[in-house]
Amino acid sequence: MEREKLEALLKEMTLEEKINQLFQLHGSFFEGDTIATGPAAEQGFSERSIQELGSVLGAIGADSLKRIQKNHMEKHPHHIPLLFMADVINGYKTIFPIPLAQGAAFNEEVARTGAEVAAREASAAGIHVTFSPMVDLVRDARWGRVMESNGEDVYLNSVYAKALVEGYQGDDPKAEGKIAACVKHFAAYGAPTAGRDYNNVELSERTLRDDYLPAYEAAIKAGALLVMTSFNTLNRIPSTANQWLMRKVLREEMGFQGVLISDWAAIEEIAKHDLAVDKKEAAVLALKAGTDIDMMTNCYCAYLKEAIEAGEVSEDLLDEAVLRVLELKNKLGLFENPYKDADAEQEKRWILCEEHRSKSRKAAEETFVLLENDHMLPLKETERVAFIGPYVDEKKILGFWSIFGEAKDAVSVKEGVSERVKHAVEAGQVTFSQGCEILTEEEFVPGFDPKEKNSAAGQEVSTEEMMRQALEHAKQADKVVLCLGEHTTQSGEGGSRAEITLPRLQMELLRKIAAVNENIIVVLFHGRPLDLREVKALSKAVMLAWMPGTEGGNAIAATLYGDVSPSGRLPMSFPYSVGQVPVFYAEFHTGRHMESYMPDNRFQSRYIDAPNAPLYPFGYGLSYTTFAYEDIRLHVEKDNISDGNAPEENNDGIALHTGEKLLVSVRVKNTGSVKGAEVVQMYVRDDKASVVRPVRELKGFSKVWLEPGEEREVCFTVTEEMLRFHNINMEHTVEPGSFTVFVGSDSTTERQAQFCFL
Ligand code: NOJ
Repeated sequence: MEREKLEALLKEMTLEEKINQLFQLHGSFFEGDTIATGPAAEQGFSERSIQELGSVLGAIGADSLKRIQKNHMEKHPHHIPLLFMADVINGYKTIFPIPLAQGAAFNEEVARTGAEVAAREASAAGIHVTFSPMVDLVRDARWGRVMESNGEDVYLNSVYAKALVEGYQGDDPKAEGKIAACVKHFAAYGAPTAGRDYNNVELSERTLRDDYLPAYEAAIKAGALLVMTSFNTLNRIPSTANQWLMRKVLREEMGFQGVLISDWAAIEEIAKHDLAVDKKEAAVLALKAGTDIDMMTNCYCAYLKEAIEAGEVSEDLLDEAVLRVLELKNKLGLFENPYKDADAEQEKRWILCEEHRSKSRKAAEETFVLLENDHMLPLKETERVAFIGPYVDEKKILGFWSIFGEAKDAVSVKEGVSERVKHAVEAGQVTFSQGCEILTEEEFVPGFDPKEKNSAAGQEVSTEEMMRQALEHAKQADKVVLCLGEHTTQSGEGGSRAEITLPRLQMELLRKIAAVNENIIVVLFHGRPLDLREVKALSKAVMLAWMPGTEGGNAIAATLYGDVSPSGRLPMSFPYSVGQVPVFYAEFHTGRHMESYMPDNRFQSRYIDAPNAPLYPFGYGLSYTTFAYEDIRLHVEKDNISDGNAPEENNDGIALHTGEKLLVSVRVKNTGSVKGAEVVQMYVRDDKASVVRPVRELKGFSKVWLEPGEEREVCFTVTEEMLRFHNINMEHTVEPGSFTVFVGSDSTTERQAQFCFL
């Protein structure tokens, strides 16, 4: 439909009808194909609002959504189709590793593929919009939602944000198999004070702009059609009512023209933050800030009419918002085809198909991070191996936000290993035992039912018996693979933790096993960085498996038995202890920088009871092979034309000007005996500036798979634009002077070279 027609449609709509376009209801209100008006009325939604509803959240299924759409359009005065939105995060039914794990792949193609697969399945099931990607920068491991982000780094997050939006939307979200992306949570939701979910956010405007906004902006530049407001306050203003943030930063500066949707009940929460006396005032503040859709409350549908009629907010603002919603429907082609791709046959064809499973498995294989390996891995098929732990026979490995994925479709470690080394399992040379439950009854985790037992375990066995059997197996084995981890409900929304260790019973299990067999390989399932000091001390190998998704067990078996080398790297620093948190590599120099040659000096920026450095730094991860680097070589390419000369023999006097490109290259060689991937990382430090700059910042990464003995030149580009920051005058610019570039295998690399920006 042309824009003029949309504008004409808007003119024909009554005030109520327009307001109701901004009203969103949850799928749980539907009884079959119609809305259960009784429960809806209890929540303050009128029959008229329901009849003229604009969008539905969380309803799925091709046939059902088609019928809902048909019923709705027949009754709607202007036959305007509904939008169906849902949280399709790391997959719809075929579940990929959690987003934090995808960040560990250091390969945005993993995220792009995951988004493509999710869009294909979700669109066939009738969904038009996904509430993804979440691109919140996360630096506090206590916050449960770090699992939904790609990690602590500005550049990594931005690269992934773009790939995810492109994966969901393709070139045209109207196209078959594509859905609209909603970037969230604008802004800075990932920085709640003390890591407690929904808490206040305190950030300087410079930190907000330099570190927190770039990933949202990258998603918007990639064409994301929606943005979601965040629950938090920023500068003491709830985002959903923050006119500066939404109208100036998001719309004016970033040029976002799409739909801004509130997070769940966030408009009503404006009143809970004490910014409004009631829902009507909250609605007025939200509309003034430019919040278009009211997710799950009646603030707009029950109170905006009165506010507009009383002149408390202008109808023009309402019209703007409604037009944006109509435009979104139009961009998805819903006026021509309100059912879009909803099709039961296509649902059957795509959901959990072999192609999707195999993509999910490949993705998982790229996300595992090997933290330690003292000659333990890969396992040999001839070895006696005892697989022990509550995650051995557990299928709930999809992560907190995979709400449509089903555990029954997942492959457990036991299943994956039984398939991979069938003969060894049949011969009794590979054994499986649970050892203990994931959590004990007294460990309070909201959402966790203590009666709920291990998803795959058949009969009730006492903890003592479980432990006894596990110890028996451990004694007889050459090596023990201990599959431990957090419960799914210990991360995700509302999953903040003040202690970030493994559950008590599992640590006991580890200690007991360590007393009878020292050859322990720990495989961890989790949604956040954990305090792994004791795990490290008691084991000889540690591999992070995160929440690996539907094909987790197969991917883990393939990796443990050496079919593929682990190639993930840490997307967040793993703290030494929770007291260090938030700990991240891109910190600032203080005036009292901790100097290693003065270990006894207390008047430095340091802890007296812990090191400053995390246990494992950002970007870190081992492989089954080893890599060697040659020195960095710098070369300036002028006017996009290389002068054809070889890179300089030494890097003296390298100067970059606006419009030129600095090429940073390094040769990397696989010096081991198996194929493996190195994640070559480039960091840049601004050596002096008008404000304090991070000690280094990631500006490029490249994952290269190398055969034994193979070597390759890896080349990165640095441009003036990449060096910009908000200077003393809040100008986004580069200040002339010297820069240091670092290239290596993690954020602590000291391989460096110098250049100047003139
Ligand atoms: C609340 C969460 O914060 C948000 O991420 C999610 O998309 C909505 N609920 C909808 O389920």
